Amino acid sequence: MVARPESCWPTHCLSRPMQRFLQLLRSNWLTWTGALLTTLSAMAFVTSWLYLSLHGQSHGAYAGLFVFIALPGLFVLGLGLMPLGWWLYKSQLTARLQRVQEKPMRLWRLLGVLTLANFALVGTGGYEALHYMDSQQFCGTVCHTVMSPTYAAYVDSPHANVACVDCHIGPGVGSFVKAKWNGMHQLFGVAFGNYRRPIPTPVHQMRPANEICTRCHWAERPVADRVEVRSHFDDDEASTESVTAFVTKIGGTGADGKAHGYHWHADPRHRVTFVATDDRRRTIPWVQYVGPDGKERIFTIDGVDPAQPPAGERRSMDCIDCHNQPSHRYQSLDGALDTALAAGTLPRSLPFARKVAGEVLQKQDWPREGTAAAIEQHLLGHYGKAGTVTAEAKTAIATASQTLAALWLRNVHPAMSITWGTYPQFHTHVTMDDKPTGCFRCHDGEHVDQQGEPITADCNACHTVLAEREKDLSVRQKLGFGAK
Ligand code: HEC
Ligand code: HEC
Ligand code: HEC
Ligand code: HEC
Ligand code: HEC
Repeated sequence: MVARPESCWPTHCLSRPMQRFLQLLRSNWLTWTGALLTTLSAMAFVTSWLYLSLHGQSHGAYAGLFVFIALPGLFVLGLGLMPLGWWLYKSQLTARLQRVQEKPMRLWRLLGVLTLANFALVGTGGYEALHYMDSQQFCGTVCHTVMSPTYAAYVDSPHANVACVDCHIGPGVGSFVKAKWNGMHQLFGVAFGNYRRPIPTPVHQMRPANEICTRCHWAERPVADRVEVRSHFDDDEASTESVTAFVTKIGGTGADGKAHGYHWHADPRHRVTFVATDDRRRTIPWVQYVGPDGKERIFTIDGVDPAQPPAGERRSMDCIDCHNQPSHRYQSLDGALDTALAAGTLPRSLPFARKVAGEVLQKQDWPREGTAAAIEQHLLGHYGKAGTVTAEAKTAIATASQTLAALWLRNVHPAMSITWGTYPQFHTHVTMDDKPTGCFRCHDGEHVDQQGEPITADCNACHTVLAEREKDLSVRQKLGFGAK
């Protein structure tokens, strides 16, 4: 047995094969750099990984990016540099090997153990990296400018706690690999500023919604009819209120085995296929319906031959042809104004409150920092022109400014060319740019089959409208909804 030297630092206390291995690592500068890089990044990774595990997932996006992507990256880079150095400086390695005269077997064993340890680390790092890349935080916040509109619309939606990957990447190796491949492209796109503004919808790589949504939802579940009562307001001086009330027929597949209401469409026995000729699926000239009896009906608009579907995207209708914003809910300008007026967060005591607020919200160049203060200055100036602003009006203006700033920041993103109406919702029917959206892309009475029979445009097939923009507000009480 060889006595150990007195001072046991830095390397003498190591076993002999270890000492010799260290010598080999130092046989050239490249291998040595690789070894240092690997060791330091491994130590940093393990420490920060333990730290983050103990402190939960509440770390910032950039901490995650550093720990789970950058550190494992450096680690693997270092591992690669070591053999590269040996290979490039073969002669130096041979010289060293002769000098250390270690039995090759023992060196190999040591190399084996170290390699296993490295694999374990790379494995953990890789697993954590993939796990992290699947988190809402990574998908939603790392590429800040690009994703912030989508993310803002997501955290304020009924699916705010459903992970991005649960909808955008389905289970299975195929979709996983595809998603990571797309992700790489997107990462380069963001790095070089080469991406589309706004990000286009529809999202073409998405799996059929019926597979994604029905993991949680029961498509045919019958939903009871219910009364919806909504307030709308005019653009006049008093922002006059009116009441709209209707019985919604969401429906589903009832005990009689038949499908009713909007969710007639969710019953897989009713198969609707369509061709859209624009990239937003807003223009639909050709629609095919195959019912439970297997009979086919083709509906087309004027001038389209049923036997020859026009060129365009052919698609089987599924959940997201109506629920296109289950999780990224962009508000409509009218809807946002009406909700704020009804809630009182946009005070109607201000003259022309709705009209003025609409103009404020449509401006594109408010600053993103200090937005409320800028809007408040603008409103004080606006109302100041008409006379002195009373203390009461000042309070109302302060409240309105907070509300409008929040709405503007949530819905308008000039850096991504996103403004009101960029992403329309399809679960209803409104007219935008003089063209119908949602249900009326097909249910407009203009799509007819060979017998001249249209896709139903009967208002009562979908709902019973009880009041439409009724100025006599007592309808509320008559419907049992209390005074307001
Ligand atoms: C409940 C399901 C669901 C969840 C959860 C979800 N998405 Fe989506 N996402 C969709 C659907 C549906 C669309 C629109 C698809 C279409 O119209 O073809 C969409 C569209 C998008 C788009 C296109 C731009 C847009 O706003 O329409 C982006 C980008 C996107 N999602 C990113 C994300 C990110 C990031 C997350 C997590 C923070 C996320 N999604 C979570 C279902 C979901
Ligand atoms: C991981 C489970 C999960 C998945 C996947 C999921 N949902 Fe949901 N969804 C929910 C839950 C839970 C609620 C109820 C949320 C609440 O009321 O707070 C909900 C609510 C809804 C609502 C009603 C609420 C509203 O205001 O619109 C719709 C519509 C909806 N989901 C559609 C979809 C569609 C379409 C998809 C597929 C793109 C989908 N969901 C995927 C869990 C899920
Ligand atoms: C023809 C259009 C259409 C299709 C297709 C459709 N829905 Fe709906 N669904 C609606 C409308 C409209 C509503 C009521 C408004 C809303 O909540 O968005 C609704 C309501 C819902 C609700 C809320 C029910 C409640 O109790 O309030 C859920 C959940 C839902 N849909 C899930 C789905 C799922 C999952 C699919 C696909 C299997 C689907 N929908 C297909 C139009 C559709
Ligand atoms: C891509 C075209 C298309 C879109 C978009 C569409 N539908 Fe339909 N819908 C059809 C076709 C085709 C039929 C079957 C023909 C018919 O019943 O007139 C149908 C039938 C229906 C029926 C059954 C009518 C009956 O026979 O009782 C209801 C209810 C319905 N749709 C509701 C909706 C609602 C609500 C929306 C929007 C949220 C919507 N549809 C969007 C094509 C469409
Ligand atoms: C294909 C089905 C369908 C047809 C046909 C249809 N609607 Fe609707 N309608 C809807 C849906 C879906 C909504 C939105 C429900 C929701 O937002 O929950 C809606 C909402 C409405 C609203 C309330 C909008 C608001 O101001 O908040 C009115 C009013 C209305 N429809 C009137 C009509 C009239 C009038 C007709 C006949 C000319 C008609 N609809 C035909 C499906 C239909």
